[in-house]
Amino acid sequence: MRIIFVTSNRGKVSEARGIFAPLGHAVEQFLKDGLTPEFSEPQSDGIEEVTISKMEQALMMVGREVDENSALLVEDAGLFIDSLGGFPGPYSSYVEEKIGLDGILSIMNGEENRYAEFRAVIAFHYLGQTHIFRGKCEGSIDVEKKGEGGFGYDPIFVPSDSDGRTCAELTAEEKSSISHRGMALNKLLEFLAPPSM
Ligand code: IMP
Repeated sequence: MRIIFVTSNRGKVSEARGIFAPLGHAVEQFLKDGLTPEFSEPQSDGIEEVTISKMEQALMMVGREVDENSALLVEDAGLFIDSLGGFPGPYSSYVEEKIGLDGILSIMNGEENRYAEFRAVIAFHYLGQTHIFRGKCEGSIDVEKKGEGGFGYDPIFVPSDSDGRTCAELTAEEKSSISHRGMALNKLLEFLAPPSM
């Protein structure tokens, strides 16, 4: 199968290639006239609505290109901080760009409830139907940045399933094994190749 990944992030495309290639599926980045297209994002408290809206827009753009040998993949993720009512959530990339990790740390200064979770939603359109897969990674916001790896909020996020290290201190494999995106992608993998009994 040819999986067309709707993302401007090339890193995610190569991550998906690593996952789908062993199953014989080719992953390519969704481009329109050689460029990654712009999508309008609905104002929403949830990433699922954003993901579905992006899928609808992508389907309008590709039209008949999605034949029985192709599938469209859209993924959206965000960080939901409990004491901030789920902020930044769907606005995670905008907030990261505007106030950065230091901004989040100062808003959280003195806050005892540091619970947060990353959530990911994948929409997968195949044979005329859109399937949704969700993943989450529970954890807490550290009091300072730690580690050099990963991206986004990784240096301030400590997953509950790790040993106290932030996501930026984990190896890529360690992070994938517990991450929200890893969980959602694994559900998609099981859908494509259900484990034999
Ligand atoms: P996207 O929808 O996966 O591109 O994620 C939107 C934003 O959420 C990113 O720009 C990051 O700020 C944040 N984010 C999503 N996933 C992660 C992650 O695994 N680590 C750190 N930040 C993330």
